[in-house]
Amino acid sequence: MKMVCLNVHFLMAVMFTVILATLNNMVLGENISIDPNDIHGGVTMGVSNAVCDNGKANIQIDWDPNSSDEYTCYEGSSENYKVRLHSSHCDKTAQQPLHICYPRAINYTEDLPTSGSHRPLWPKYGEYLYLPPQRWIHSLEHGAVVFLYHPCAEPSEIEKFKAVARDCLHRYILSPYKKLPPDMNFALLVWQCRLVMSNVDLPLMVNFIKTRALNGPERVSRDGQYDVGLLRHAGIVSDVEDSELCPRMRIMAATAEVFKNRSAARRSKYQQSDQMWQRYRQQYRQQMPDVEI
Ligand SMILES: *[C@@H]1O[C@H](CO)[C@@H](O)[C@H](O)[C@H]1NC(C)=O
Ligand SMILES: *[C@@H]1O[C@H](CO)[C@@H](O)[C@H](O)[C@H]1NC(C)=O
Ligand SMILES: *[C@@H]1O[C@H](CO)[C@@H](O)[C@H](O)[C@H]1NC(C)=O
Ligand SMILES: *[C@@H]1O[C@H](CO)[C@@H](O)[C@H](O)[C@H]1NC(C)=O
Repeated sequence: MKMVCLNVHFLMAVMFTVILATLNNMVLGENISIDPNDIHGGVTMGVSNAVCDNGKANIQIDWDPNSSDEYTCYEGSSENYKVRLHSSHCDKTAQQPLHICYPRAINYTEDLPTSGSHRPLWPKYGEYLYLPPQRWIHSLEHGAVVFLYHPCAEPSEIEKFKAVARDCLHRYILSPYKKLPPDMNFALLVWQCRLVMSNVDLPLMVNFIKTRALNGPERVSRDGQYDVGLLRHAGIVSDVEDSELCPRMRIMAATAEVFKNRSAARRSKYQQSDQMWQRYRQQYRQQMPDVEI
């Protein structure tokens, strides 16, 4: 009797699973979920769909994972720039955030787009071998910070850049990217704003992140679905909502500013003796490698 009962339960469980799978196929399978009230052009975000976007089929339209071009340095490593350059710019208006299905291509008029059309599935947070803009613009829309570095940047600078991302927030995307302005090796992007730098400037980055992160038109902290080329999934820094940005950097950034101010004073004091100034500079570089003085 007991045996029969078990078998009936087992059969019911199997049938239930089959029904669920069929339902899933109906929803996620060969039918695009169209929402007429959706501001993204009718294609609902985050719904995996083989006809539109399932994060696998047709992805080579945005990036061919079999090609190493996007993450390989061909021009030879750039030297560590002696003159440190940076600039930041915000667009007054945003491009429409349409969700575009494959096989339609999405082209941007700007090399560093900070808004615009993108794919319906957004990427998992973290670090990528390469992630195309068609994916990370969706992350920007949700309030994430996108960290881009030129593959020819100095490896030690790239490591510093990564450390800032990892220490500042959970909702970040990091990828190599070649279409940076001349002499610029690093870029930080949020929805409608960008900061580009020749070298990693810790105080600048922390300030940008603290004032501009998590301000996308959609406040979604949920992780994404796309993970092609994902090398390292983002960890939690303060919590999943990133309630505190760059918690470990607070002291570092403050110290960096003190160092910068102090060195500005020393510079004028040591103006007559270049040798003394260089010695001082070397000494402080060892203590504060992230700060240019
Ligand atoms: C897709 O789903 C809608 C509504 O659920 C239905 O009206 C339509 O016929 C379906 N289209 C296809 C091609 O199955
Ligand atoms: C990458 O190459 C493999 C083997 O040559 C092939 O099966 C696969 O379809 C290619 N992927 C893409 C996205 O082109
Ligand atoms: C638009 O993008 C597609 C695929 O990403 C590319 O093949 C095409 O050349 C681009 N078109 C223009 C005008 O840049
Ligand atoms: C550093 O100098 C700037 C400009 O002179 C000033 O606004 C700032 O308060 C100073 N910061 C510290 C920590 O002394």
